[in-house]
Amino acid sequence: AWDSLALTPPMGWNSWNFFEAKVSEQVIMDMADAMATNGMKAAGYRYLVIDDHWVAGRDKHNQLVPDPVRFPHGMKYLADYVHGKGLKLGIYSDAAMLTCGGVTGSYNFEEQDARTFAAWGIDFLKYDYCNAPEDVATAFSRYSRMGDALKKCGRPIVYSICEWGQRKPWLWAKAAGGHLWRTTWDSRDVWESHNTNLTGIMEIFRQQEHLAPYAGPGGWNDPDLLMVGLYGKGASSSVDGRFKGCTATEYRTHFALWSMLAAPLMVNMDLKQIAPEVLQLITNRQLIAINQDALGRQATTVLQKNDLQVLLKPLQDKAFAVCVFNRAASGQSFEIDLKKELDLWQPFNVTEVWSGRPVRTLKGTLEAHDCAMYILTPGQK
Ligand code: GLA
Repeated sequence: AWDSLALTPPMGWNSWNFFEAKVSEQVIMDMADAMATNGMKAAGYRYLVIDDHWVAGRDKHNQLVPDPVRFPHGMKYLADYVHGKGLKLGIYSDAAMLTCGGVTGSYNFEEQDARTFAAWGIDFLKYDYCNAPEDVATAFSRYSRMGDALKKCGRPIVYSICEWGQRKPWLWAKAAGGHLWRTTWDSRDVWESHNTNLTGIMEIFRQQEHLAPYAGPGGWNDPDLLMVGLYGKGASSSVDGRFKGCTATEYRTHFALWSMLAAPLMVNMDLKQIAPEVLQLITNRQLIAINQDALGRQATTVLQKNDLQVLLKPLQDKAFAVCVFNRAASGQSFEIDLKKELDLWQPFNVTEVWSGRPVRTLKGTLEAHDCAMYILTPGQK
């Protein structure tokens, strides 16, 4: 499990939410063209992951066959195209006979499918758990079967475990060969849902706190795709209808929090129509440096007062990232004392991330759901 495939959280794009069952060769090629040229590749984004609904079935040799209409040239052709852009291709399957979307899964064909993926040039596998038995022993065994198959398939493939955090995968996913594991149900593009059937960004965020000890180079907690730019402000589509999307401030905080959490940074909006402010946010060099920091630590909450939550993420070279997050539905001012409140006694140079400017103190005013972000590097007395 401990290999060098995901020493930092994977960054990329996934076809779920926006394209869903409409994912196709053309969509992936368009996304590859966009990612290679719009600044995302330069910022570190690599993976284009084909989620559910790409499979048509198996041929007479039991080899998986992609949908012939949406993937007319097959997966090898598509992987070659994506690799030609300096990017990587991911694919999706399920640890049962059928996927969540009801197409063919990989159970009982793990070794053959892993070899097929390797022959196609696949670099990443998201492995779902619909239609599979609920108990943790079976989940571990089914995930291990695919994990072992991937290790033997002759190609390095990042293994993304997706059983929605239902069986505490942070305790066993790495032993099954996983590099990242979903910790919650699917995220929806809504700030806070207050509805048990629908997981908003805040519902997901609150579930990450106790998982910090399990994240590190090689294995990451996965609080699901970034909702940034999906249906809300700056979105590439009109409002989805089911979800009203978030404000620009909420998306900015969402991206900052996921960076602090050392979460995989996987977007899913239509990259062909990405709004300039969304592109600017997801390519923010300082946030990405925080997320991709080589120490690989997930932030923890070090201070909570009123509705202010302060998160701290240790970075390499004795540096820190600090996020001051206003959870309240109204504005708040703050002032944080590094020594007395965060127990950070050494001298630091402090950069405020949104402005990119040096500051002397951590203070300011935050509108509802906004956050301030700081990078602290060791400084002179
Ligand atoms: C599950 C997963 C999602 C997505 C869909 C596809 O719900 O959690 O991320 O892969 O299946 O059907």
